[in-house]
Amino acid sequence: MKEIFIGLLAIASISAALALIIELAGAYIANYGEKHILVNNKKDLVVEGGNPLLFSLMSKNIFIPSACGGKGTCTYCKVKIHEGAGPVLPTETPYLDKDEMKDNIRLSCQVKVKEDMKIEIPEDLFLIREFRSVVEKTEDLTPTNKGITLRITSPEDGILFKPGQYVQLQVPPFKLSKTSEFRAYSIASNADDTTHVQLVITKVENGIVSTYVHDYLKEGDEVTIRGPFGDFFLRDSQRDILFIATGSGLAPVMSMLYQIEGEEIKRKTTLFFGDRKPHDLYFQDQLIYWQKSIVNFTFIPTLSRAVEEDSWNGEKGRVTTLIHKHIPDNTPLDVYICGAPPMVESCAKVLRQKGIPASNVFYDKFE
Ligand SMILES: Cc1cc2nc3c(=O)[nH]c(=O)nc-3n(C[C@H](O)[C@H](O)[C@H](O)COP(=O)(O)OP(=O)(O)OC[C@H]3O[C@@H](n4cnc5c(N)ncnc54)[C@H](O)[C@@H]3O)c2cc1C
Ligand code: FES
Repeated sequence: MKEIFIGLLAIASISAALALIIELAGAYIANYGEKHILVNNKKDLVVEGGNPLLFSLMSKNIFIPSACGGKGTCTYCKVKIHEGAGPVLPTETPYLDKDEMKDNIRLSCQVKVKEDMKIEIPEDLFLIREFRSVVEKTEDLTPTNKGITLRITSPEDGILFKPGQYVQLQVPPFKLSKTSEFRAYSIASNADDTTHVQLVITKVENGIVSTYVHDYLKEGDEVTIRGPFGDFFLRDSQRDILFIATGSGLAPVMSMLYQIEGEEIKRKTTLFFGDRKPHDLYFQDQLIYWQKSIVNFTFIPTLSRAVEEDSWNGEKGRVTTLIHKHIPDNTPLDVYICGAPPMVESCAKVLRQKGIPASNVFYDKFE
């Protein structure tokens, strides 16, 4: 038994050492030289070989969606690579189904440009741009959520986005990270103001970008954002609208409510917002104002951890409780859900049970 264990340990150690040698060789010895990436059969990019495709494209101002900053966990960075990608990597297999593999879909943050490549991307990705901005305002909205307002300084015409979309926010290296990192954050502000974006960022324990924003970012700092990304935006329909949000998931909903106000959309609109305690509620003044100013808009907050001392007279429990209580079965509704993945999944399940078709349910999971 002891011999088997020692044998297994030896094999594991040799494999780990080999993997490390290959990685070091890749990083320090291999020189791939210049490589060509032909995009959509029309743009020929010349890049330094050896880097992940996601970052090679970024160096040429082509910005592929990415929420995790290239860690290989969000799966947003999928692109079609017709030639030059090599075999599918172990880091990609959990995220690609059989059809995608057959279709040459790959994770662009994992595939390195070691040969000339031919790739295909949606044309609208050419419209995504990088913006310089200055932090105009930071505010503690709740004990865990910080609001930051960025004034875009370049390009001067600012950012055109659909309410509900997100940007990538880039932060410099600091104590938690030797490299500059970026993550996805939904825009909370009014799309009519193209020179400002407001973001709401939840502090994540030991999370790189959120910690930087909460503990280091200050008014007057310069930051880079890229965007706009995402397909979480209002669909054109006659159905009533139900928004369900928790925590910073309220951000894109705020932007959509500015749109509903601005375009005087008269569809019956309800917002269920859930958090734990009264101090977790934010943007209350604006939401209460909209209750009066937007025709047919109802805002229902619910708290899951309110106790007697909180003197909370509103709804208690989770947002799923509100669906059970307020939404009759088979109501014709468009539902927009935003927040932590478990909340989104629980709500989607309850909505299915209530007979709301999955095709009318849209969501952004803040993974
Ligand atoms: C479309 C979209 C929109 C989003 N919009 C928003 C928004 O508006 N507001 C918002 O707050 N968030 C939003 N998010 C989430 C956001 O993009 C980030 O995922 C979040 O802020 C965490 O990033 P971070 O850099 O702080 O944490 P990360 O550094 O990515 O870490 C995430 C978690 O992993 C752990 N971790 C990190 N490294 C290690 C390691 N080596 N070993 C073990 N554990 C590790 C951390 O402790 C942490 O718990 C959105 C996500 C998506 C996909
Ligand atoms: S960028 Fe997130 S998986 Fe590739």
